[in-house]
Amino acid sequence: MNELDALVEAAQASFSKATTPADLENAKAQFLGKSGRLTELMKGMAALSVDEKKSRGAAINLAKQAIEAALAAHRQALADAELAQQLQAEALDVSLPGRQRGQGGLHPVSLTLERIEAIFGSMGFDVAEGPEIETDWFNFTALNTPEDHPARSMHDTFYVEGGTATAPNLLRTHTSPMQIRYAVQHVKRHQAAIVSGVGMPEIRVIAPGRTYRVDSDATHSPMFHQCEGLWIGENVSFKDLKVVFTNFCRTFFESDDLVLRFRPSFFPFTEPSAEVDIQFQSGPLAGRWLEVAGSGQVHPNVVRNMGLDPERYIGFAFGMGPDRLTMLRYGVNDLRLFFDGDIRFLSQFQ
Ligand code: PHE
Repeated sequence: MNELDALVEAAQASFSKATTPADLENAKAQFLGKSGRLTELMKGMAALSVDEKKSRGAAINLAKQAIEAALAAHRQALADAELAQQLQAEALDVSLPGRQRGQGGLHPVSLTLERIEAIFGSMGFDVAEGPEIETDWFNFTALNTPEDHPARSMHDTFYVEGGTATAPNLLRTHTSPMQIRYAVQHVKRHQAAIVSGVGMPEIRVIAPGRTYRVDSDATHSPMFHQCEGLWIGENVSFKDLKVVFTNFCRTFFESDDLVLRFRPSFFPFTEPSAEVDIQFQSGPLAGRWLEVAGSGQVHPNVVRNMGLDPERYIGFAFGMGPDRLTMLRYGVNDLRLFFDGDIRFLSQFQ
């Protein structure tokens, strides 16, 4: 092998050892640089004759072209490798499913409350909300349950700061205080008409919301929901309550053959009082009596505490459990599932 071929081979070998552009530039300098090996060979031509210069020059030129070609090829190879690596690092897997923003939705009990409001709204009932921290007066005393009344022990009450020593404030144990709160406002608004003898428009309201009792098991939660209903006028009867509540239950459960039973019971603020049971005629719950509400004719003492004359105004109230209605509607058997906040459970209602 002649000297030039050997030089070309050495250059090729040196270039292919370079793994970075900087390595490659160093290798290039060794062969093509100002004091590189090829340049040295060209300097050595000065001593040659014209003919020798020609042939030697042509041969050196060929070698130089070969070295430059090898250099260019290796530069390209390095650039290709870098690009390939970059593509690999930034690889985009177009088959990966996109991240979706979770679709939120209403809590099943909220769905029930909306349903209750829509159904009673269609029957001319207003919707009212009241405070969850209540005074002893609204939660008990005004509802015909004075301090020493044995019915107070029916409610395991959470007491909070505020109020008086004998009548501390509390977390409302039911939505019934809204009967008084709403009626008092209504009476105030229509006082002139009441005093003049014209009379007030009927009170027709529901009051849904959170309620609290010291209680916790599969069917009781320390926080639960109730929805109060109140209907007061001059000519309202138990029949009206039955019609309205039957209508509500059949619409709520979308079941025309659903049967209701008003079972005698006791509440201090209603007389007579009845527990409302429902019975489905078909489906998984068919044939069983299921308690859904307490109800009754508003007690004269309560009517009086609303600022109304019980000789003139008569009314009916009911208090139902939206949590229980939700359990029955969807076939849920543990109340606690509603309040654990487990998305696997809650997302089934979207
Ligand atoms: N407040 C009663 C309860 O919590 C329910 C009820 C409301 C009963 C209105 C009669 C009238 O059990």
